[in-house]
Amino acid sequence: MPPTSSAVSFDAARGLAVLRTPNSTYALRVGVDGSPRHLHWGAVLDTAALTGLTVAASPAASSFEADPAPDELAPQTGARFGPAGLQVRFADGTSGAQWNFAGHTLQDGELRLQLTDRHYPLAARLCYRVRPGSDVIERWTELTHTGTADAGPITVDRLDSAAWTAPARPDYRLSHLAGGWNSEFQLHRDRLPVAETVLTSRRGLTSHHANPWLALDDGTADEEHGEVWSTALAWSGSWRITVHRDPVGRTGWTGGFGHEGVRWTLRPGESLHTPVFAGLYTSGGFGAASRAWHTHLRSCVLPAPEQDRPVVYNSWEATGFEVDQAGQLRLARLAAGLGAELFVLDDGWFGRRTSDRSGLGDWTPRPEAFPDGLRPLADEVHRLGMAFGLWVEPEMVNRDSDLYRAHPDWVVHAPTRDATELRHQLMLNFGRPEVEGWAHRTLDRLVREHDVDWLKWDANRGVTEAGWAGHPDPDRLWIDHPRAVHRIMDRLRADHPGLRIEACAGGGGRADLAVLARTDQIWTSDNTDPVDRIAIQHGFSQLFPAQVMAAWVTDSPNTTTGRTTPLRFRFHVAMAGALGLGGDLTGWSEAELAEAAALVARYRQIRPLVQHGRQHRLTGGGGVTAVHHASEDGADHAVLVWRPVTRFGHQPPALVLPALDPTARYLDPDEGIVHSGVVLTRYGLELRLPPGDHASRLIRLRRVAP
Ligand code: GLA
Repeated sequence: MPPTSSAVSFDAARGLAVLRTPNSTYALRVGVDGSPRHLHWGAVLDTAALTGLTVAASPAASSFEADPAPDELAPQTGARFGPAGLQVRFADGTSGAQWNFAGHTLQDGELRLQLTDRHYPLAARLCYRVRPGSDVIERWTELTHTGTADAGPITVDRLDSAAWTAPARPDYRLSHLAGGWNSEFQLHRDRLPVAETVLTSRRGLTSHHANPWLALDDGTADEEHGEVWSTALAWSGSWRITVHRDPVGRTGWTGGFGHEGVRWTLRPGESLHTPVFAGLYTSGGFGAASRAWHTHLRSCVLPAPEQDRPVVYNSWEATGFEVDQAGQLRLARLAAGLGAELFVLDDGWFGRRTSDRSGLGDWTPRPEAFPDGLRPLADEVHRLGMAFGLWVEPEMVNRDSDLYRAHPDWVVHAPTRDATELRHQLMLNFGRPEVEGWAHRTLDRLVREHDVDWLKWDANRGVTEAGWAGHPDPDRLWIDHPRAVHRIMDRLRADHPGLRIEACAGGGGRADLAVLARTDQIWTSDNTDPVDRIAIQHGFSQLFPAQVMAAWVTDSPNTTTGRTTPLRFRFHVAMAGALGLGGDLTGWSEAELAEAAALVARYRQIRPLVQHGRQHRLTGGGGVTAVHHASEDGADHAVLVWRPVTRFGHQPPALVLPALDPTARYLDPDEGIVHSGVVLTRYGLELRLPPGDHASRLIRLRRVAP
């Protein structure tokens, strides 16, 4: 269903573009110089109010303060001294674009503003899209060399997807996600300095270290209240976002694919299209911003949002590289007994993969481990009623592999530089069509031959020595490689409609709106310690809905942290996402297996709420945090409460549940108690947590007739 025509409009006489979402308005005006300038992004404003707004002008009349009003994408010309979103150089050495406005197109909710350079054969389209029911505005840029065959090339040093502008406020705070391997998605919320703040990945992957999501508020927003402006870039390779606040308070950010210094050559007739940079505004605080993102992902991004994510069993933490048919069958039978719905055979099943030093690239079953191939295991997994999944890392190769020996030239490599190995592996250059073709054929064959229902697509290193020997424009690799990954995923899904894909890059190193347009969930982190996971999940949930957040219950003590935690606590933390099991079940006692089976069954009861409902993050007293999942109609609720550390041996105070209806009454079906909504929303719910560290509870509530 295309959005109503009034969702996006362009008034040619005034040069005024207006985009309307259910809870926000976005507006820009084409300046007299032909450049589109930002006008408004925030609360719903009618056209009369917008017409009265003036484009923010320079604060003082001085040759040093003559900056023009904020651009929708800043070219490198005029008195613009902020970060440029477009940096081009023409064959004669001139840099920067100077625009004429050449008209617009408006179709199916997509607005394209057409710009042409006044002197050189360069055209740009600034593109905007609004989708029904979503508060997200999607923006991207299309750049074209419009010259004839004899025209010289145009060098593109930067092409951002969009520049965003926040309204004047006395102060701003920046929320962003940073971390590392085993510590992804840590939420940082700091005062925005009067400076340029660069968020970036130079790794060729979205990265564990920074995620291309951010939120700005004026320093007063909380989970329930306040204006928040938030953006997310739909890109799985290197990227850069520059947030800038100047001494007079002008605040904005520009971002797109590629980090600094990634160059692209446009030849006559060629175009470069950026990924989508999506943005949303809410006046309902960080919680509402996250729920708006979750709604957008479900309605406009994910390929199969309506489907329940299966309870997975993954063998990695149980068996590492010690993989064989008998051992995997033993685990599969135990997993099926606990209620697992999908069995994923992880690393170690192929080539001569007995450690991380060899085998990557040779995607045939390891004969010593699977003498009759994978078919017997896949068949037994299916007979047990589970789907069959397989781990692959198609972009990577060990030097000790038949693939590398046959095609040493396929790796990303500058011949005059050392090729840095990370985890003893090199990266294949998917920018080369023959490598992309090989990877697609290999994965397609694996899926067909072994009846694979699920691929866990991993990538355990970033790009170094980004060479492409013999290619005149080697930096294309930074953009061509992620595009090829996306293309292969798209083809596999199209050819195998039942196939589901989990995105993984050593945990959450490739989590973004682009990978989620062709995958079903993210392996959130290799860190499965439930205490650490609470913070990781908190950050992840800022942008991503719980249904894409893969969360396993693993052994205790935890392999990463050595921490010992009760099974129930591990479950309660993992139940806030797409629950999975990842421990060595052969070591679990009968009592633990029985408790685990009961907790999996309990998860199935709340799965519709967790995976398809609305999510509210809560902070209680006494070290308690919680996530409240509510059905869309507000009838059913599940609250997962965690207290990792006991404080003073006190019971924490009652937990206020602001998302409930104060006029309703709620039954706790497990305790048989009816609560009044007004009490739960004002005074809160008595938690009655068990004593000690790592205490947790799952509380269900159902609205009942008054
Ligand atoms: C990465 C993944 C893990 C596991 C290993 C296998 O680290 O994140 O889950 O698949 O690779 O080598």
